[in-house]
Amino acid sequence: MIDFKSVLHKIHYEIGSRNDRGAVATYIPELAKVDITKFGIHLLDKEKNGYSAGDSTTPFSIQSISKVLSLSLALSHIGEKLWERVDVEPSGDPFNHLSLLEQENGIPRNPLINAGAIVVADVLVSVLGNPKEDFLEFIRKIANDHSIHYNEEVAKSEKVTGFRNYAAANLLKSYKNLHNDVEQVLDFYFHQCALEMTCQQLAHTFFLFSNRGHCLRDQKHLSINQVKRINALMLTCGFYDEAGEFAFEVGLPGKSGVGGGIVALLPNHFTVATWSPGLNKKGNSKLGMEVLEKFTTETGLSIF
Ligand code: DON
Repeated sequence: MIDFKSVLHKIHYEIGSRNDRGAVATYIPELAKVDITKFGIHLLDKEKNGYSAGDSTTPFSIQSISKVLSLSLALSHIGEKLWERVDVEPSGDPFNHLSLLEQENGIPRNPLINAGAIVVADVLVSVLGNPKEDFLEFIRKIANDHSIHYNEEVAKSEKVTGFRNYAAANLLKSYKNLHNDVEQVLDFYFHQCALEMTCQQLAHTFFLFSNRGHCLRDQKHLSINQVKRINALMLTCGFYDEAGEFAFEVGLPGKSGVGGGIVALLPNHFTVATWSPGLNKKGNSKLGMEVLEKFTTETGLSIF
């Protein structure tokens, strides 16, 4: 039996003493204001026991981590038809690159890069009655937490500097792979990225991916097959052009965000979330990657 509490505290102490924490994202001005010394970890095991270290109850912007959640809701609405509009191959490119989108006639490589997530957002705008409200309701349900909310300042800040996402949405529109209005889809996309959660809430929310589609309240939201697909996408595409490195170092399906969060999971065992706002050159949390590498190396708990 592994003593998660002492393992996490030891790793938090060791990694937390690093001088080089990377750099906070500045292309979304609101994110540049975040204190780079914040550092939290939360692990939730399959018996729903939680283990915390550091700033695990401070909310932060989950950013691209939200792409897994929007993908889940879209899949539960339109099922396999989604794959007619977005592929499932790693891109090997940074999250906001557009060159492959043009080469491949407006079909994004996968739903976890920005262009793919914008197509998923378009699906949700089509199928949901009140997209932003209904999506938030879905998140609150799977997290079993009604305090989760959008940070309007972050959404606004991304909108005014979202030139590449406007370019992606317009390119998708030109290929007829965006059915709704560009403004409406991006407003939804900027809000989903501006969801705020703590490490603890993030581990709770992602519990269903380690628990065969059943959330914390034991309600079924996804089929086993859908969970298989989503976890496979996290493993192969969750870290963009660093997905190979994450699989190599950590060996778990996971997803990062430019707010400095990372969530990862071992099916049928645990879900773990880390937060350290400083990013490495590929846009993934520097200390978060180190924590997870150390955790799976020391405990032997990886999918490999
Ligand atoms: O669209 C964007 O650029 C951001 N809202 C999200 C990017 C992101 O989190 C990339 N992940 N590491």
